Amino acid sequence: MLRSFLLSLIVCNFTACAADQPTGTDPAAGYGQPITPSLAPAQGQPRVTFTDCHVEGPYIAITFDDGPNPTQTPRLLKMLKERGIRATFFCVGQCVAESPEIAKQIITEGHEIANHSWSHPLLTKMSEAAVKEQIDRTHNVIKQTTGVTPTLLRPPYGGFTVRQRAWANAVWNYKTILWDVDSLDWKHRSPAKTESIIMAETKKGSIILCHDIHKTTVDAMPATLDALGAKGFKFVTVSELIQMHHEPVAQKKGPVAKAATAKEAATAATAIEDLQKQPQPAHDSAVPPGGGAVRP
Ligand code: NI
Repeated sequence: MLRSFLLSLIVCNFTACAADQPTGTDPAAGYGQPITPSLAPAQGQPRVTFTDCHVEGPYIAITFDDGPNPTQTPRLLKMLKERGIRATFFCVGQCVAESPEIAKQIITEGHEIANHSWSHPLLTKMSEAAVKEQIDRTHNVIKQTTGVTPTLLRPPYGGFTVRQRAWANAVWNYKTILWDVDSLDWKHRSPAKTESIIMAETKKGSIILCHDIHKTTVDAMPATLDALGAKGFKFVTVSELIQMHHEPVAQKKGPVAKAATAKEAATAATAIEDLQKQPQPAHDSAVPPGGGAVRP
């Protein structure tokens, strides 16, 4: 019941900023065209999903989902600029199409822009073709609007199966980015709670989840950002945090970590095989860890 209500709120919100078609779509640019899957190099970074990072210094990434919002995102950008803080924006494609100038501003002010689907559905419940359209349209509208090719994907509600993650990595070279600090800002709509949750849970390497479509979230930011800075945290984008990431030494040598890596490699290989063998399904139906929860 609550879930339905919240979903309806989200749908209404996105309807408000929806464009019928992405502006400036170039039919030759890849949308609707087959994409040849190519696996990232086997060596280097085998991980395709991050909830947080293992880093040496006090680095964190704050992320804002579901925008750009014509009212709240510019307010937030001003606060970030005043503090010299860079953030990562997981944008909904139809909102990028509706507010292209704000998407451009995100880039010109040094932030990272990333893919949060076209219309914010739960991707685990959709066909491969439908998921591909959700990701592809957003990928292309971001590229065409900002000139930047996104490399990160955050699935709505965190819902993306293990095989979908491997598939998105193979097709678009996307890393799937979840979070370890959930401000729950969409739920309580309280600036004080947003700040207290973030301050209580953030540690070095954290990826903090917020939404720049809510006034209360943006209202929380001056105090929250200043308090994080006062604790010594340094803000980087998610891609920068990933660049600093290293697997804990103990796990590198452990049999469990080895098995996980081998399993992940096998999953990626299977996803590629499925892509090549039409019309076999390429998705699990299982809900991933942390997936399926009602979180914008
Ligand atoms: Ni969202």
